[in-house]
Amino acid sequence: MSLLDEELGRPSVFRDESKLDFDYVPSKLPHREEHLRRLARIFRTVLENRVGASQSALVTGRVGSGKTAVTRRFGVMVRERREFDYVHVNCRRHNTASLAVYRVLQSFDSGHPKRGYSVEEMIDSLSRILRRRDRYLFLALDEVDCLMGKNGGDLIYSLSRMADDTSESRISLIYVTRDLSFRDQLDESTRSTLRSNVVELGPYSRDELRDILGQRVELAFYPDRVSPEAVELISDVASDWGNARFAIELLWKSGKKADDEVAERVVPEHARYAKGETHPEFRKEVLDGLDDNRLLVLLAVARLLRRSDRAYLTTGEVKEAYSRECENHGVKPRKHTQFWHYVKDLDRVGAVDADLSGEGERGTTTLLSLPDVPAEFLEKQLDEHLYR
Ligand SMILES: Nc1ncnc2c1ncn2[C@@H]1O[C@H](COP(=O)(O)OP(=O)(O)OP(=O)(O)O)[C@@H](O)[C@H]1O
Ligand SMILES: [Mg+2]
Repeated sequence: MSLLDEELGRPSVFRDESKLDFDYVPSKLPHREEHLRRLARIFRTVLENRVGASQSALVTGRVGSGKTAVTRRFGVMVRERREFDYVHVNCRRHNTASLAVYRVLQSFDSGHPKRGYSVEEMIDSLSRILRRRDRYLFLALDEVDCLMGKNGGDLIYSLSRMADDTSESRISLIYVTRDLSFRDQLDESTRSTLRSNVVELGPYSRDELRDILGQRVELAFYPDRVSPEAVELISDVASDWGNARFAIELLWKSGKKADDEVAERVVPEHARYAKGETHPEFRKEVLDGLDDNRLLVLLAVARLLRRSDRAYLTTGEVKEAYSRECENHGVKPRKHTQFWHYVKDLDRVGAVDADLSGEGERGTTTLLSLPDVPAEFLEKQLDEHLYR
């Protein structure tokens, strides 16, 4: 038997691993029905009356509380109704106003040229298309805080102004964010709407996580391949953060570990192993969105913090360490202004915390630290990522 046949013939606990993918949204979301109903109520007039009605809502909650899943699920339901479209834009990936609108426009007009149009013009084209085709759009701006400070406020202003333009309004907005402070950058009328139309998702309790995991166990594994004790342990561990993503990742890694050992069932020992390999506050997608220079700045921060046993670093130290990392990786280090942009970007996407210190004194400095993730863990992830 060939090596490949042998490997492929090995038994697996998984029936369908794709049901554990982060972007898979199950058709039922345990413990989020109430929140979906709330969204439906907020958008009731839009869904009933169409013309002249548009509305906006804000979905918020901690990491892994189901914001993206709930919003996408709402989108699926809305699309089932005639005349309604739903577009989900991840603003981390499409991280300027023009990239974000372009992404929306493209889903209606795939041939629309990428360059040469202002945000306003693209929004106008979008409204024209909607009018011509007699469609109404629900637009979800996920991780909308990533747009802020990059004329994202303008985009939201233009969109919401169009949404206020009652007679012709065909676009309703769903803002999705962990960070409520993004509201401060909006104009007063949008802000006040977003104060009342809020859907807040609390962290999941242990029991809720057990139900969420139970559903995935059924979808992704063969019957009886996951012991209830393993599910219990994973729910318990993940409930410290209330994070469903972390719970599902632990379940997946536990299954992988069981397969590695050619074990018949996933047992608590596999879950304990998985726990050592995973960190709840770490989001791999963040790294996917960073280019090599930004990754190297982050690596410099992680390495320095691990080696120095300190909580904060000055930008000066980090810059030096960054230049060293560049050398090691055969990348040309960039000059100070550029470096400073990298730091700001990393802060904006939540990969580092940058705090101005000693304000008022001569030469204020910025102190950098890592939010929640252990430096050693991040360093390991970055090393792997940079050598992909
Ligand atoms: N109630 C639920 N039922 C089933 N799966 C869920 C539920 N809530 C979340 N999930 C799953 O957990 C994972 C994380 O959820 P989601 O991506 O929606 O979190 P989020 O709040 O958007 O997190 P982030 O702030 O990191 O963007 C996804 O795989 C999602 O499908
Ligand atoms: Mg999300």
